[in-house]
Amino acid sequence: MRFLILVFTFLLTQFVNAQKKTIDQRVDSVLRLMTLDEKVGQMNQYNGPWAATGPLTNNDNLLTQIKEGKVGSMLNVTGVARTRELQDLAMQTRLRIPLLFGQDIIHGYRTTFPIPLAEAASWDLEAIERSARIAAIESSAAGVHWTFAPMVDIARDPRWGRVMEGAGEDPYLGSLIAKARVKGFQGRGLGSTDAVMACAKHFAAYGAAVGGRDYNSVDMSLRQLHEIYLPPFKAALDAGAATFMNSFNDLNGIPATANKYLQRDILKGEWKFKGFVVSDWGSVGEMINHGYAKDNKDASMLATTAGSDMDMESRSYIQNLAQLVKEGKVKLSFVDDAVRRILRKKFEMGLFDDPYRFCNEAREKEQWNNQAHLDAEKDMARKSIVLLKNEKQLLPLKKTNGQRKIALIGPLVRSIKEHLGFWSYDWPDDSSRITSLWDEVQKKVGDNKLLYAKGCNINDSSRAGFDEAISIAKEADIIIMSVGEARDMTGEAKSKSNIHLPGVQEELIKAVAATGKPVVVLISAGRPLIFNWTADNVPAILYTWWLGTKGAEAITDVLFGDYNPSGKLPMSFPGTEGQIPIYYNYYNTGRPATNDSDRFYRSAYIDFSIYPKFAFGYGLSYTNFNYRNITLNSTSLKGNQKLTASVVVSNTGEYDGTEVVQLYIRDLVGSVVRPVKDLKGFQKILLKAGESKTVSFTITTEELKFYNNDLKYDWEPGEFEIMIGTNSKDVKSAKLTWNK
Ligand code: BGC
Repeated sequence: MRFLILVFTFLLTQFVNAQKKTIDQRVDSVLRLMTLDEKVGQMNQYNGPWAATGPLTNNDNLLTQIKEGKVGSMLNVTGVARTRELQDLAMQTRLRIPLLFGQDIIHGYRTTFPIPLAEAASWDLEAIERSARIAAIESSAAGVHWTFAPMVDIARDPRWGRVMEGAGEDPYLGSLIAKARVKGFQGRGLGSTDAVMACAKHFAAYGAAVGGRDYNSVDMSLRQLHEIYLPPFKAALDAGAATFMNSFNDLNGIPATANKYLQRDILKGEWKFKGFVVSDWGSVGEMINHGYAKDNKDASMLATTAGSDMDMESRSYIQNLAQLVKEGKVKLSFVDDAVRRILRKKFEMGLFDDPYRFCNEAREKEQWNNQAHLDAEKDMARKSIVLLKNEKQLLPLKKTNGQRKIALIGPLVRSIKEHLGFWSYDWPDDSSRITSLWDEVQKKVGDNKLLYAKGCNINDSSRAGFDEAISIAKEADIIIMSVGEARDMTGEAKSKSNIHLPGVQEELIKAVAATGKPVVVLISAGRPLIFNWTADNVPAILYTWWLGTKGAEAITDVLFGDYNPSGKLPMSFPGTEGQIPIYYNYYNTGRPATNDSDRFYRSAYIDFSIYPKFAFGYGLSYTNFNYRNITLNSTSLKGNQKLTASVVVSNTGEYDGTEVVQLYIRDLVGSVVRPVKDLKGFQKILLKAGESKTVSFTITTEELKFYNNDLKYDWEPGEFEIMIGTNSKDVKSAKLTWNK
């Protein structure tokens, strides 16, 4: 049997190698036939004539250019009919090289899933992978070959609107989620018609834009770049990400688009990436504004030389690159390398064999209303909800309770589209297939017990609706308030200097709470918001992000106890914008403050707490979890030995519940200072009411490694603190020594 397995594995490897070889040979044979202009055409990507996700350049002769072989890829073209129409044009070119259709499939296509930041709050890698898988199934059925996702930028600044697209602030969690998303998008591998190519973006450090202002500069040490910002990219690459997208920002003075260190040295050199790099929208041309390129021609030279393979919407390559090669300013070998990478992906996707293999009307129709996808969406949405506060067990609410009246108040009670969030698609039948909170609460408790008032708009200063809200609040026994952001308030180019609950919504909460009635607040948003009064005064708060197509159902299931929440924050929530950037894995400093009264010549604020309002990893359940002290298998280890750290977790409440048990490590003394804690593991466990479980983590020296000042990745002997807990703040701890 063993022999047979070995033979089989050997044959399989031979087969895979032969396939690869054939693809490389086929790529070369096409490349040999190509003129320089045709090569440059493959490196050019245009936006389609129907929709745009950035500022448009002149598009007038787009269709003619496709026929002339001047376009290698299109974005924002979806649907079998449209992709077929444009592929037909590509088939009229001399070499019949198929087009690649790319699209921002960020959190679903027909079925909108929770925004990525919300999904990250589930800490559920399987569910996240499934979400990406479904997005791939639906979008590939609509002719899409390539998604511009996952966004794997680490973000420590909630003013930055794009936090909604990523997995939050932590490189460890971010890396695991990056891997799950790539696996989900690429499914059984490129070439399956239900898989889309993933694109790890934005390479690199875009999340660290100064002041949280989109497109802004980034200046950081290379050590921080390697330790915090690059790991999720490496994880995406290891999971097989077919492509990378570079970023709008400059990194230490060099725009990412022309950054040789990032693209040629790290990505294609050290990491041996075999896919291709697409620029971000117009980022080649924007190097003129950066003050890095003197004109478009210069920009093309700088970008190609640094390893940007495809130009999205700058029209710089198509206008200048051939000339630059002729003048000897760009090496032909750079162009050939870029085209090889692009063609290889087209071959791997099977497009040379059949350019229309993603154009299947029957499949497109079949995936249009897929109940299994909607069910998975609801599951993901419920898992993403975070219970921030629940005094006196106000939640869950009882579905039937005699004559109790429930008042639903707030600008989001009846909203439909706001559930979808930024980077989602609008479909003509949305209003009939997406329900509001109002619809769903009615289903749970029956119409006659419900009252409604909008109270105010999301983002203006009018209090005209307050009186009505207060009067129905007085009539009610319990009040559910639905507040938050409109779906376009957090996303690309949606940076904010003020991230408080917008408009007069918090004033409305105060006015309603003043009636003395119990209030549950639901906050829908794309980023961590600030709502200190609510956090300090309202008994129950659920953070419900933007949860997608089945958002209202998911929220209502949690409100009425059909689902016990288990989400944990993937980002620290600040108490004021002045604390930003704020993150759990900070350095201790020489004058650490030990608490908020400890301010005298300390690293503290004299006017505000140094702590986040809600910590990274925080989230409650309807039940309670108790952690006993950590036990270690040894407190003195050597070399490659393994450490086992265990803790007994008990469900001491009345509900079955799911807990994310988190492991943090601190290296107490290092050749460079080390964070006060670093997430190094977690386990999501289900505990029945009254049940206890021993949760064990195996720790090796791999988990102790970090980048030293010479950018060497290794561990150093010494003393370590192991922390296990329910969030980054509330942990049990134990110490040990680990020597070489
Ligand atoms: C964004 C990218 C996106 C691209 C195409 C850019 O503005 O930064 O993330 O993929 O547009 O829509």
